[in-house]
Amino acid sequence: MADTIQAVRGMNDVLPDEAPLWAFFEDTVRAWLHRYGYRRIRMPIVERTELFVRSIGEVTDIVEKEMYSFEDRLNGEQLTLRPEGTASCVRAVLQHNLLHGTGQRLWYEGPMFRHERPQKGRYRQFHQIGVEALGYADAEIDAELIVMGARLWADLGLTGIALQLNSLGSTEARLRHRAKLIAHLEAHVDLLDDDAKRRMHTNPLRVLDTKNPALQAMAAAAPRLLDDLDDADRAHFETVQRLVRAAGIDFTIEPRLVRGLDYYNRTVFEWVTTTLGAQGTVCAGGRYDGLIAQIGGKPAPGAGFAMGIERLLAMLVDAQVAVPAQAPDVYLVWAGDAPVAAHAWTVAEALRGAGLAVLMHAGEGGFKAQMKRADASGATVAVIVGDDEAARGDVAVKPLRGGGEQRRAAVAEAPATVRAAAMAA
Ligand code: HAM
Repeated sequence: MADTIQAVRGMNDVLPDEAPLWAFFEDTVRAWLHRYGYRRIRMPIVERTELFVRSIGEVTDIVEKEMYSFEDRLNGEQLTLRPEGTASCVRAVLQHNLLHGTGQRLWYEGPMFRHERPQKGRYRQFHQIGVEALGYADAEIDAELIVMGARLWADLGLTGIALQLNSLGSTEARLRHRAKLIAHLEAHVDLLDDDAKRRMHTNPLRVLDTKNPALQAMAAAAPRLLDDLDDADRAHFETVQRLVRAAGIDFTIEPRLVRGLDYYNRTVFEWVTTTLGAQGTVCAGGRYDGLIAQIGGKPAPGAGFAMGIERLLAMLVDAQVAVPAQAPDVYLVWAGDAPVAAHAWTVAEALRGAGLAVLMHAGEGGFKAQMKRADASGATVAVIVGDDEAARGDVAVKPLRGGGEQRRAAVAEAPATVRAAAMAA
């Protein structure tokens, strides 16, 4: 026999037992986004590589080493499995001219791909919910995006997710700061590891994000971008903080929070938990006022965030948040020859036609074995069809929970009888 083929490392199946958890999460998220007026957009999973190079930035981990890129065999185009959704979302909005005279509040969900070292909470195919507010410059939008996050954690029943905030200011402020930072790094060049040395001149802000313990003191003593902000950026950041505080949300300011994508300016934020180990950032984002122009659009502001679904689901499991089951209403138990089978089919379709979820027994098994299956399915009611029922053209309705009586019902009455039995359970 041939070896069984395994999934690609870092890319996971979502098995049916996990479906109720995903459904609870997605239902909660959809209702939450609706309450804030965000509309769904769906983009392709494959985009031109250049889109990500131009938006995420050439000197980022994602673009340098994590993208699944390939050449289209037929026309030689350079393509990439999207590592994130913001660039695609902005591309779609520009391509379809959706910013014409109006802002857009949008969201998307789907798989993203990054060739990272897999570990708990970090996968090569993972799923995000992304939220983008395009065409809005004011600090109120930054605050809205942050306040939304806090509400979702509450809606999901999650606690212990802390907010970290920073402002990256304007391009000019970053350039001013960059010169000071490079001077600081050059003064400590003997300490720097290879990664830091390589980035010192290309992306010095990212050097401060280092996890290397030997560089922590140097990073902590580095000049702070926050101290270099222009007045307008400072005022913007203060308004964000005031609104977030007024919403009753605690936060810390993290001057070294820089994010792993280059398109941000002004507000950046991360929602972080300590319960997931090293991969504790469950949601992150910020403002990206330059990105739309960078992708070729007429300059317009933007801001957004994305959350890692797998990480939030892991939190839901750890917190033992109660998730609604996805059991059928009815398990249809039947055994007999062709007329019985035909009657069972008619009954199943009649019940489904009345809006009930019916799991029809398939395969071998006598009534006793089938009743065990019915119980294990989580259905509230078993509808039983045998020779007698087929001959009479009716069914037996047996409550599986709460110990009610078995009843007989004509096919036309079966849905009402099932519902009455389910109510009593
Ligand atoms: P990001 O910080 O790269 O931002 O990713 C957002 C979230 O996706 C992370 O906080 C994390 O929860 C999850 N995530 C990222 N990589 C992985 C992985 N390998 N495995 C599991 N989960 C992961 C962005 O993607 C930006 N597009 C966010 C944004 C939207 N900014 C503005 N708008």
